[in-house]
Amino acid sequence: MTERRLLVVEDDVALQKQLRWALDAFAVLPATGREQALAMLRAEEPPVVLLDLGLPPDPCGVSEGFATLRQVLDLVPSTKIVVMTGQEGRQHARDAIAAGAHDFHQKPVDPDQLGLLLARAFYVGELEAENERLQARARQSRMPGIVGDSPAMLKLYRALERSGPTDVSVALLGESGTGKELVAHALHSLSPRRDRRFVAINCAAIPPTLLEAELFGYERGAFTGAFRQTPGKIELADRGTLFLDEIGDLPLDLQAKLLRFLQERVVERLGGRQEIAIDVRVVSATHRKLEDLVARGGFREDLYYRLAELSLEIPPLRDRAGDALLLARHFLSRFGPELGKQRIGVSAEALAAIDAYAWPGNVRELQNRLKRAIIMCEGRRIGRADLDLAAEDEADAVLNLRQERERAELGALRRALARAEGNISRAARLLGVSRPTLYDLLRQHGLRD
Ligand SMILES: Nc1ncnc2c1ncn2[C@@H]1O[C@H](COP(=O)(O)OP(=O)(O)OP(=O)(O)O)[C@@H](O)[C@H]1O
Ligand SMILES: [Mg+2]
Repeated sequence: MTERRLLVVEDDVALQKQLRWALDAFAVLPATGREQALAMLRAEEPPVVLLDLGLPPDPCGVSEGFATLRQVLDLVPSTKIVVMTGQEGRQHARDAIAAGAHDFHQKPVDPDQLGLLLARAFYVGELEAENERLQARARQSRMPGIVGDSPAMLKLYRALERSGPTDVSVALLGESGTGKELVAHALHSLSPRRDRRFVAINCAAIPPTLLEAELFGYERGAFTGAFRQTPGKIELADRGTLFLDEIGDLPLDLQAKLLRFLQERVVERLGGRQEIAIDVRVVSATHRKLEDLVARGGFREDLYYRLAELSLEIPPLRDRAGDALLLARHFLSRFGPELGKQRIGVSAEALAAIDAYAWPGNVRELQNRLKRAIIMCEGRRIGRADLDLAAEDEADAVLNLRQERERAELGALRRALARAEGNISRAARLLGVSRPTLYDLLRQHGLRD
């Protein structure tokens, strides 16, 4: 069994020593005051803390003990704290429980009873952690790798489950950062092709002049720099899945070539003379409105129908009720350890802000902001400010609205005065306000003192 680390905060050195002897079932970390306790908590993260409420500089009162209690819970909210109270301690015990302590023990110390109580605190903490792990797994298990259980996503999962195992060409449409590439992977892993390759090519990231060679491959000497025969991405994906990302950015001449491939299912390498039969399942994605592109002549209609035998809309994050919170937890448990902050949490305020925000950059934005917050956050709990969210945006918006209104008002005043040739009564009539009101406005805008 892994050792159970117990932080014992007790200023009475003799009692501290006695406790360490008595509680030898645990790995005891001793501290004699608040600062030392918090430093120990940061470094060792003991799941259970035994806390004497009477600590210096207030050994007879409980103010220092309660301050320590609150700070421990702020730093690591899951900590189970057992407080030790003096003889007169019933009320203090009650207050401590109300403040978030797990349990209490009244002095003088009864080692057996205290030992049982602490073992139970460890047990409860372990159960909670296990429960959290199970819930996290359940949240993720619906569609491998994809987090979210909003109605919009459940609908998408049903479509993926049905279309995944087929060879139907699927076009994934959705805003930037909604998870199109992730969904493409899911389609592949749901298909009988899952043991073959998933080959992705980003049509927007490769210069158009190189894209053709990337897609179709080339023979040695096909062009300057073609030193050896190279298969294209289409060929590499044989018997697997070919993922054409940002398909809306494919130049028209390549659209024609791709269409020919989709009709004939053969490729010819650049400079080659031989047709190679290829068996791939094609999944494509774009954040552009493909239908609009087709209407404007930027995308071939016949190719569109080949690629989008089935088209799936990936909903924007703002339409996935509750998913932002699930994703936040998911990213926290993934990036926390990666960034060396194992047990970082999120404050209630920050959670509310995450839930309320519209996430124009979708899951990718959420992911980036959380990563940043984990890095920037000073305690063990991400606060609203660490996310750098809406607060400023709202303030900016209000500011802009006011500025806009003032600008419009000033423009109207100037025009009215010009039209009325400086006559206040006429200008007031033109503006539909009383003369005193107009005087006020002129003064406000510095047009008159
Ligand atoms: N539902 C989800 N669950 C877990 N992670 C997700 C989810 N959706 C997106 N992600 C993660 O968010 C990031 C962005 O997703 P992805 O690259 O698939 O989006 P995209 O729609 O292709 O974006 P873009 O249009 O910008 O290329 C990735 O790191 C991905 O793993
Ligand atoms: Mg993408």
